[in-house]
Parts: sequence; structure tokens; C-alpha cells
Amino acid sequence: MKLLNNWSWLLFFYFLVNIIEGRDWLVDKITDVTTLTKTPAGTLLLSNTLISREFLLEPDFATIDFRDLHATDSSLLRCVKPEAVITLDTIQYAIGGVKPNTQCAYFNRTDFWKNKQLDVKAFHFSTYEVGTPKAPFSYTPKRFAPSDIQWPPKGIHLSVYFKAPYYAPLFHKYVTVVVNYEMYDGIPLLSKWIDVIDTSGRGDIDLSFNSVEILAVNQPWSPFGHSWLYIEDDQPAGHGTNVLWTNDVEVNTIPGSFPPLVNCTYQTDHPIIVPLVTQLSSFRVHELVIGSSDVERVALSKHRLIRLLAPHTQENPIFFHMINGSSPAFRQAIDQMAEVGFEMLIYSFGSGFDMESSNEKYIEQITSDIAYAKSKNIEVGGYDLIALTREVQPSWMAIDPHTGKPRDSACFASGWYDYLLNHTLTFMDRTGLIMVETDGPYGGYSCASTTHSHHRNNDDSIYRQNILQGNFFRTLRERSVYINQPDYYFYEGGSKTGMGYNEEQYSLPRWMDISVSRQGMFDDTYERIPTIGWMFVPLTVYHGGGAAAQFEPLVAHQIEYEWALAQYLGAGVAACYRGYRLYDTNATKALVTKWVNFYKKYRPILIRDIIHVRRADMQSIDSYMHVDPYSNDIKGLAMVFNPTSNPIDTNLVLPLYYTGLTDVAQVSEQENPWKNYTLARDYHIDLPISLPALGITWFLIK
Ligand SMILES: *[C@@H]1O[C@H](CO)[C@@H](O)[C@H](O)[C@H]1NC(C)=O
Ligand SMILES: *[C@@H]1O[C@H](CO)[C@@H](O)[C@H](O)[C@H]1NC(C)=O
Ligand SMILES: *[C@@H]1O[C@H](CO)[C@@H](O)[C@H](O)[C@H]1NC(C)=O
Ligand SMILES: *[C@@H]1O[C@H](CO)[C@@H](O)[C@H](O)[C@H]1NC(C)=O
Ligand SMILES: *[C@@H]1O[C@H](CO)[C@@H](O)[C@H](O)[C@H]1NC(C)=O
Ligand SMILES: *[C@@H]1O[C@H](CO)[C@@H](O)[C@H](O)[C@H]1NC(C)=O
Repeated sequence: MKLLNNWSWLLFFYFLVNIIEGRDWLVDKITDVTTLTKTPAGTLLLSNTLISREFLLEPDFATIDFRDLHATDSSLLRCVKPEAVITLDTIQYAIGGVKPNTQCAYFNRTDFWKNKQLDVKAFHFSTYEVGTPKAPFSYTPKRFAPSDIQWPPKGIHLSVYFKAPYYAPLFHKYVTVVVNYEMYDGIPLLSKWIDVIDTSGRGDIDLSFNSVEILAVNQPWSPFGHSWLYIEDDQPAGHGTNVLWTNDVEVNTIPGSFPPLVNCTYQTDHPIIVPLVTQLSSFRVHELVIGSSDVERVALSKHRLIRLLAPHTQENPIFFHMINGSSPAFRQAIDQMAEVGFEMLIYSFGSGFDMESSNEKYIEQITSDIAYAKSKNIEVGGYDLIALTREVQPSWMAIDPHTGKPRDSACFASGWYDYLLNHTLTFMDRTGLIMVETDGPYGGYSCASTTHSHHRNNDDSIYRQNILQGNFFRTLRERSVYINQPDYYFYEGGSKTGMGYNEEQYSLPRWMDISVSRQGMFDDTYERIPTIGWMFVPLTVYHGGGAAAQFEPLVAHQIEYEWALAQYLGAGVAACYRGYRLYDTNATKALVTKWVNFYKKYRPILIRDIIHVRRADMQSIDSYMHVDPYSNDIKGLAMVFNPTSNPIDTNLVLPLYYTGLTDVAQVSEQENPWKNYTLARDYHIDLPISLPALGITWFLIK
């Protein structure tokens, strides 16, 4: 008892540190490092002073506490559960043999220490190792990603080893389960995943990952409370991996009388069963202890997560979508891009580009054109449809298990994977192509074929296709390829996806398109960092809408063109400027130059997170603001738009909390002399705005 009391004092101390310093990890730079310590009670404590997780080692391994130390100073956990659950052949095993207590409504530590029960049939703790986080792929920051990227992130990697129980059949005794934890410095975040290793050399065990993480949490942390805990896995949505919030039904009680349980699992219409050959790994779970349901805090917290674990998503080339693949047209576009400072050309869909070609003449032409672009410092990429709706040779098509007939897509765990990877890499090596827009990456469907080279049957097909699509992107990422992929393969190396728009909005008349797009981008940047999503500017017709929708001829639509450039570059968001030229006169060239120069000058702040100041209601001004509390210079940049047909003089309430400024803000409108503003009690300033009809302005804040 005495030891435990000492222990609570230590936790209390952590809390005190946070409170005394009044630190906010979203504003203050947290310099504490992650530590793993043996507590006086003999448990292991993994802590980065923002969160901590405590593990019981004796008589077996279990998570016995998970604390938020930065926002609420409280425990998330109300009950002990196994660390994970797997099935070998038909036998289900808990990983870690500490049974849930019978009293699970809240964590009664007195009861737990007195009455904890053992599960003799579980995999038992054998040992642990401590190291540093491992990078899932190598990465060197490029293309103006922030200079402060740490890769792999700093922190602690804890590997916990489990051995099969005495009761297991002999051939299961060669299996070791490793539960991996990574906690990172300066962010209330933990990653977890499982490796299952078979040293028998037989390769005939069937494995299912039933649960990678099971946490019995207190209500406020669940979606049925305040959603203070954000849990995601590292796979695209709809690919068979799930973070399920369910009733806690394991204990003998009325369902619903306890707060819910989170269960991170594979779940599809059929069980996922994979042959265990040597080693298999589960998906990764990311657990972000936000401790708030304020929309801006939740958004900023999630943004820190993706910036940390998928740092390459912060690369931000300014690119052009070229619709004409002919050499003269390509070179004309490259000349224009070089003039105005664009950085990347993508052969768009409809340009006739063929990355899978082995036609020597074609490869020669592309090689020579890409060399021309390179001589002007411009990178080149191209579009390819690789899975969803992709027709390949019949033996590589995915088979629908219900009909036995081919689906309308390729199976990514067939020979198609080898063919595609080989052709992509060969084409890149020969031509110098350094970017891909892989449309329809593998989308999560199963394949019932039993003759494909990389999966056994329907039951392991989703698992295998996910891994191979991930490998495809990781391989490209390690070659510094920039990857547009309309899905969520960011933790596998993908760079960018659509920001979240509706495809049809780019067929609306120009002003409607611009306005709806600015509104939508405002909403989508709660979910996404600016550099992870693309928007669209249909210089020529995209889906439809004709002359009213397209920006060509540019000279005739200069005001709209400037709005598009300003609202996207001002948001730090790349748009697919899609057409065959960037300007048609000196006047339109000047517009593009002006906004590209603005972007390049303020790039370090423009690619930072967005604070949502005022959504466009189209009745008055609207505004968003980038913030970087760690900057020693510019800490904020606010864009302000007047989409109305009248001049507006008003005050804009600018919330400066997340700039990290506390007393005085120095503000400069478009590089005019700096003016001082005193922050109010809630960190806002009242900024006078005077804009003509259809005026756009911006403010620097330091
Ligand atoms: C905690 O558990 C102990 C021992 O089982 C029990 O006596 C006590 O009533 C419990 N406390 C609460 C608040 O449930
Ligand atoms: C977790 O989900 C899987 C898949 O649906 C299910 O088999 C398992 O029983 C669940 N575990 C718990 C503890 O709810
Ligand atoms: C592509 O550009 C070439 C060269 O400028 C031109 O001859 C051709 O008509 C263009 N193709 C299309 C479809 O516009
Ligand atoms: C592609 O396949 C060919 C033929 O098997 C092989 O020689 C070549 O090395 C492969 N290229 C790459 C980049 O994997
Ligand atoms: C466009 O600018 C160039 C360079 O400044 C100049 O030579 C040319 O005359 C201008 N064209 C027109 C149509 O004004
Ligand atoms: C504005 O505030 C800054 C920092 O507080 C100070 O250094 C500067 O002198 C002030 N400028 C004016 C014009 O008051």
C-alpha cells in the first residue's frame, strides 16, 4: 500500500508540473522526453508527461492504467482486458493472462490488487525490450516540407514478448507474439501493433488477429461521451480494419450498464484468416489522448498526429495538370511554368500518358521531355489507373466469392502487383518520372481466386492486398516519389488525396465553383492539413459546365482566376490547375506570378494548420488563418476575402490563442507598416478590415 501511495504522488507531481507551467502542448514546445521506468510497485510505466500507460509484469502482463496527464489529469481505463486476442487454427488465445475483474464499472484498484485472476490458457509474458521508434520506411524531407521533421519520430519503442501457454498444442508452442508500443515525445500519442512469429518452419498455422487493442474506457473518452480519445488505424477506411466501439459484454452483467469498449480489429463479411509463414504483423493503432471536444483543438491534435507519423504529406509542390501529352505542347507548358515558378507537371488523365508502356519510341520521347523539364527545375509525374475498375489480364482479375465471376477490378495480390511494380519502377528509372497519380488504388474488396501468387483464397485476400498496395507506395516513397492517391494510404507513403470536394462542383459556373470550393475547403481543413489535400481549377472543362465553368480563355476571366489562385495558394492547398497553359497574356501571367511569389515567400507559414476564423456565408467577409506558435518570426497569416459586390468596412474578430501570442500582436496588412494590437482576455484582437467589392487581402501576425 505504501508503495502505491508513493506512486500516486509521482503522478500527482506530473499533473502539478502541467498545471504550474500552464503548458498547452498545442502552443508550448514540450521538451520532456519519453521514459520507461520500473515503479516501486514493480510495474512498468511508459510516460511522456502528457500521457502515461502502466503495465503489470507479475504474475502476467496487462495494461493496468492509461492516464491523460495534460488535459484532465484522469485515468481513461476502467477495467483490465487482454493486450490482444489472436486465433491460431481454431483456438482463440488472449495475449496476457490477466483476467478482467468482475467489477468493471470503474477501476477499483483495491479490488484489483486483492482479487486479480489469471487466465492460464492465454499467451504469457516472457520478456520485454526497449528501443527507439522504428521508421516503417526511410524518408528524407523534400519539396519544401518543414525543416523540423524528425524521422523516425523521437520516443520509446517497447516490445513485449509472449509465449504460448502450457495448454497449447505442440505446434503452437513455436509461436511468439510481440506486442509493440511506441510513445512519442511531445504529443499525447501512442501506437500499438502486433507481430506473430512462427519459428517451426512449417508454415501451416492459420492466423486471425481478433483484436489488436481492447480498451475498457470511462465514458467521456468514448464516442458516447465527449470523444476525448481519438483512435484510428493506419489503413485506408473500408479495407477490413475497424475501430469498433461496442458494449462491454464480457462480464456477467446487463449489457449497457458499463461504459463501452473499444475493439481494434479486422472485420469484414468473412473472417480474415492468413497462413502464418514466418511472421505476420497486424495493422497499427494510433491512440491520441485529446482530452477535449472543442472542434479546433480536436483538429489541431489530429493534424499533429499525421504530421508526425506521415511527415511526407507536408511536401507541397505547386503542380499543373497537363491535358496534352505531345512534345511541343508539353514543352510550351514547361516554359510557362518556369516563367511563373510552378514546380511540377503531371500528365493528366486524358493526356494519353502511359506509364506501363514499353514502346521504345514513346519512352524516348517522354525521357527527352522530362529531361527538358528537369533542365528548368520542374519535376514530372503521370496518371495511371491501377486497381479500382482496372481491367487487366483475366487471370489477374479479382474474383467475387458470391458469384465466382471476376469483379470489375484487378486483384492486387496477383501477378498484377509484380507486373505493375516492375513497369512503374522501370519506367521511372528510364524516363526520370518522379511523381505518380495512382487513381483507384486497391479499395478493400476481397478475391476468391485460389491461383493468385500472393494470397491463398478469399480469407487472406484483403489482408494481402492491403499489404502489397502498402508495399507499392512504400517502395515509391523510399525513392522520393511524390504520390497522389485518392484514398488514405498516408501511413504507407502516399502524399496527397482529394481534399473532400464533390467532383461535380467544378462543373458549376466559375463564381459558384470558387465560392462553394472555398466553403468546402474551410470545412475539410478541420479534418486535413492543407498540404494533404488537393483542390481543382478547371482551366479547361473537367466533367461539364462548358464555357461557364472553365477558366479559359484566362484573359476574359481574370478576376475569377485571381480568386482561385489566391484562395488556394493562400490556404497552402495545391489545386490541380488543369489545362494546357497557365496564362494567355501578360496580364494573366502577372496574376499567376504574383500569387506564386506570395506563396513562395510565405511558404513556411502557409503550409501550417488553419484556424477557422469565419466561414464564407457570402453575406460579408470570410477568413482563415495559418498559425505556427513555434515560429520565431511570423506566427500567423490570415487571408480575408470579400465575395460581395459591395465595399465592406468592418472589424474581424481574430482568435490568436494558437499563435502562442499572449499580450501584444504585431500585425501588418500586405507588408504595410506593423501595428500593435493588445490581445483580449480570450486572446482575440479586433482587426479593422476595409475591402472593396471582390477584394482580397492578407495579414501577417508576429
Ligand atoms: C473496492 O473493492 C474493495 C475490495 O473488493 C471493496 O471492499 C470496496 O467496496 C470497493 N470500493 C468501491 C468504491 O467499489
Ligand atoms: C472484437 O471484434 C471482433 C470482430 O468483430 C470480434 O470477433 C471480437 O469478439 C470482438 N472483441 C470484443 C472484446 O468485443
Ligand atoms: C496537343 O498539342 C499539339 C501541339 O501543340 C497540337 O498539335 C494538338 O492539337 C494538341 N492536342 C489536343 C488534343 O489539343
Ligand atoms: C523487371 O523485370 C525484369 C524481368 O524480370 C527484370 O530484369 C528487372 O530487373 C525488373 N525491374 C525492376 C525495376 O524491378
Ligand atoms: C508582354 O511582355 C513582354 C515582356 O515584358 C513584352 O515584350 C511584350 O510586348 C508584352 N506583350 C504585350 C502583348 O503587351
Ligand atoms: C509593438 O510591440 C512590440 C512588442 O511588444 C514592441 O517591441 C514595439 O516597440 C511596439 N511598437 C509600437 C509602434 O508600439
